Amino acid sequence: MQGLLRRRWLPPLSAAWLALLALRLAASDQAADVGLWNGARKGSLPEVKKYLSQDADPNFYWTDSGDADCDSSDEICGTSVLAAVFGNKAVVLQSLVDAGADVNFLNGTMAEGFCEIDSFDYGTVAPLYVAAIKNNSFAVEVLLEADAQPDIPCGGGVFSPLVIAASRGTKAVLDLLLAAQPDVDTVDEGGAGDTALHGALKRVAVFEEQNEFVEALLAANACANIPNLLHGDTAVHTAARSGNLRAVELLMGAEGDPMQRNNAGLTPGDVVCISIKTGEVVEGCDGDKVKALLESQMGEQADPPAMVDCENPRDAEDKLRCALQGGADGTTQG
Ligand SMILES: *[C@@H]1O[C@H](CO)[C@@H](O)[C@H](O)[C@H]1NC(C)=O
Ligand SMILES: *[C@@H]1O[C@H](CO)[C@@H](O)[C@H](O)[C@H]1NC(C)=O
Repeated sequence: MQGLLRRRWLPPLSAAWLALLALRLAASDQAADVGLWNGARKGSLPEVKKYLSQDADPNFYWTDSGDADCDSSDEICGTSVLAAVFGNKAVVLQSLVDAGADVNFLNGTMAEGFCEIDSFDYGTVAPLYVAAIKNNSFAVEVLLEADAQPDIPCGGGVFSPLVIAASRGTKAVLDLLLAAQPDVDTVDEGGAGDTALHGALKRVAVFEEQNEFVEALLAANACANIPNLLHGDTAVHTAARSGNLRAVELLMGAEGDPMQRNNAGLTPGDVVCISIKTGEVVEGCDGDKVKALLESQMGEQADPPAMVDCENPRDAEDKLRCALQGGADGTTQG
């Protein structure tokens, strides 16, 4: 009788126990995940190793508020990789990557100041962007080696890692990013409308450093003539405004156009030593040589184009020119 009773009671008990065990396991899994995330955020390698050894998920997604939706009260919201980059510890990042973490996880968000240089912004960030803005070249290297996509802007449109590195980063980070072959002419659509070249030329007033950046970007085939989205200045305008003679020379050597006009109809020669912000002469700016260089280049480029024989056009371009000029009389004016 007693044996029967025991046998009758055993199945439901063990089912309940199993359910409880499953719950406990799930809870401890989550605890390991959260532990990992916190360790990453703090930049604690021992903690990260400990929780990884407890099978914590390297792609666990965390929000301060505990739910999956990030809001502006969250300092940082994302995976451990983002937390590690934010914590600025590349060795931690490396161990997460080694554990199989996804470095292109894209829906992390960060509070204030990460996407825009001057203003508040709360936007989506990729880990590479954060590593770039923190000047952490080791982290940038780890991420790129783990196939981080080099072109993902902050906030869905503001500053690509390249533009931010060129605008306020270090040469080491810029070089690493350039080696990953991003779109070198990408324009900061959601922000100031700059390319990386514009960004470099607006940097802290140390021409020598600016010019190293400009050289690196031009060597990677950056185009000198892309207009800023807001006011139409090209990199040539920007260099002219600050009176950076060497930069203007570098840009001219890379097919910079001294004739291109900005949205106000001004050529680079028209804005030498003129601040874009105030429209006033930049204090201490020495623009004589810049002006002379730009004028001499304009002279060269202003030469009339070679005469076209419309009876015997040499190529498609000639044919087009003749058609446009209604070259019925056979030849264009020479
Ligand atoms: C981000 O991705 C995680 C994991 O896929 C998901 O749980 C979370 O809801 C997403 N958050 C946002 C804000 O899209
Ligand atoms: C990154 O380096 C630049 C140039 O040295 C510096 O101006 C900037 O403050 C640095 N940023 C950080 C977050 O350290």
